[in-house]
Amino acid sequence: MKVQFTETVLRDANQSLMATRLPYADYEGILSTMDKAGYYSVECWGGATFDSCLRYLGEDPWERLRGIRKNMPNTKLQMLLRGQNLLGYKHYHDDVVEKFVELSIKNGIDIIRIFDALNDFRNLGTALDATMKFATPNTVASGCISYTQSPVHTVAKYVEMCKELQRMGFQTICLKDMAGTMSPYEAEGLIKGIKDAVGDMPVILHTHCTTGMAYMTVTKAIESGIDVIDTATSCFSNGTSQPATETMFYACQQYGIETGLNEDAINKVNDYFKPIKQKYIDNKTLNAKSLATDSQALVYKVPGGMLSNMIANLTDMKAMDKFDAALAEIPAVRADLGYPPLVTPLSQMVGNQAVTNVLLGERYKSISTEVKNYFKGEYGIAPAPVSEELQAKILGEGGQPVDCRIEDSKRDGSDFAAAKEALGDLARSEEDIMSYICFPVQAKKFFEDRKAKEENVVSYTIEAID
Ligand code: CO
Repeated sequence: MKVQFTETVLRDANQSLMATRLPYADYEGILSTMDKAGYYSVECWGGATFDSCLRYLGEDPWERLRGIRKNMPNTKLQMLLRGQNLLGYKHYHDDVVEKFVELSIKNGIDIIRIFDALNDFRNLGTALDATMKFATPNTVASGCISYTQSPVHTVAKYVEMCKELQRMGFQTICLKDMAGTMSPYEAEGLIKGIKDAVGDMPVILHTHCTTGMAYMTVTKAIESGIDVIDTATSCFSNGTSQPATETMFYACQQYGIETGLNEDAINKVNDYFKPIKQKYIDNKTLNAKSLATDSQALVYKVPGGMLSNMIANLTDMKAMDKFDAALAEIPAVRADLGYPPLVTPLSQMVGNQAVTNVLLGERYKSISTEVKNYFKGEYGIAPAPVSEELQAKILGEGGQPVDCRIEDSKRDGSDFAAAKEALGDLARSEEDIMSYICFPVQAKKFFEDRKAKEENVVSYTIEAID
């Protein structure tokens, strides 16, 4: 029996614990060791890393990816892609989605884990087709299900979803439990059901320690035949992050389960990250709240990243006294929206609306553009019927949502043309154009800063010659 590991420290672990503020320079020095660790894959890109690079870290996300690729030539590099949303918070046109996937593979990505916040699989099709179109021998298209619990989310429904992903042509299936609310016996029922339905297609479990369930759930998942588990090097594990890599390694060893991991390498990885973690605790980037076990999440179903973002936003607004009230408002907003899984961008949408409702002291006094667009159908089909009252308030009496695929399927190149026009000589590559399409304000500022820095270097060089 064999279980393989995906190491998440470069993406989800730091996204969950410290809002994705880990710069490339902090971990470049350990990449060659990680390359020898024997992981199934290293999750290192996608999710919020792209946005964070441009917005907060002054890094070119594509250059980061090329750096990781260069220093980890032997390990499968994995990214998380939000289907038609790519790495942003709204749907993009099909030609943009296809180009983004092409560039991701070209710059070094092997495994593309693709999900849709609503599990509306029409939103995965374009990214899947592009992955197959530009695939190298190492490319894997992984279909991912956003796991959540609600009156409409049953084991039978999840099994049906997995069969659909298989029919679509995905090569592996990932169960993504972003809130860490999957319990051990739910994992057993799901994984046995899914394995029965999809044959020898590999199944992966991604969970978070937020509620304290994860170690039990992962252990039960292993007993139930899971093929790959997501873990984080131990100093970046637990809390809102993943279970610890080394802990699960030693547990597997005791079970007599093969992992393919190199014990010496995984311990070196942890030793390397210890002082880095301490630095971010000291400068308060890593909030102690993210490291705690919060069983309340079993009630509120709040994923790790959402929790740390809410803390950051409320702290900025000096309104942390409203934290518990905002948390309690989330289930009500979620029910009104037809029980969407709380994953980006729905987690932000629901979280921000809940915070707004609480701060204004009245529900839906102000409705965010994102929530309005959701009701207009721009994100796809909700898992369950939405609140009729709220729908009427947003769309007018008798108003109905539109089919998002009509707009999304456009392939007229207009987004590229507009980006080129807006950037002029600031853009130097197709990757730059893509960064701008995804995050126009942040990308443009990054390119301007890049140019200014280079001009400074030139004038300094001239002075030095004098
Ligand atoms: Co996650």
